[in-house]
Amino acid sequence: ELSPIDKAKFVAAKRAVDFVEDGMRVGLGTGSTAAWMVRCLGELVREEGLQIKGVPTSNRTAELAADVGIEVISLDEAKWLDLTIDGADEFDSDLNLIKGGGGALLQEKIVATASDQMIVIADSAKEVAQLGAFPLPVEVIPFGWQTSKALLEETLINLDVLGSDSTLRMNGDAPFVTDEGNYIIDLHLTRIGNARQTALVLNQIPGVVENGLFIDICDIVVVGHGDGRVEVRD
Ligand code: A5P
Repeated sequence: ELSPIDKAKFVAAKRAVDFVEDGMRVGLGTGSTAAWMVRCLGELVREEGLQIKGVPTSNRTAELAADVGIEVISLDEAKWLDLTIDGADEFDSDLNLIKGGGGALLQEKIVATASDQMIVIADSAKEVAQLGAFPLPVEVIPFGWQTSKALLEETLINLDVLGSDSTLRMNGDAPFVTDEGNYIIDLHLTRIGNARQTALVLNQIPGVVENGLFIDICDIVVVGHGDGRVEVRD
């Protein structure tokens, strides 16, 4: 028996795979919700002969996809994708997102942007009136990360955001390292007034590779509830 939160994630994932059709090249997201989607897709491949090629957004997802029987190819082999299904940490009514709680935002953003359509699957607790309560992940290269962190904090003061504190994401005693060998600095804001401007400005800072704001990338959010209800927002 699943907990309400897992049930919400599962029903959203299950509904989202209805959008996947034979022959599609599908971007496979990262995180606990996306993992449900990968398992659901694997079941369709194994039991109903669904023919797809999957492009994973992390090493974790690549491993899971292969385990459940999905043919895995690289983004460069796929060149372009029909659809990406991924989780999110927050979404608003414009379907803008914060992602990267799992640390895979860079590959996730590249894959989602290379897709005709991006579908987000999320439990209802992730819906917010305004983005920003979830710490905003920023991927930086390790070289000079402390300087990048200071620059990030300075930049925040000039943006329409509340809060300017930031922390280097850790994995035990060592910095957390992304699949691309970078670090993540989490920005502890409470409110991002202008998410579009924030996303653009953060990426101008030397050392910053990408940030977790996904603006105008997501087309549909499939929202799961703990009682099994599902809503489709587009
Ligand atoms: C991974 O980097 C993130 O963008 C995930 O998509 C996000 O953290 C959602 O994860 P859960 O589905 O585990 O909440």
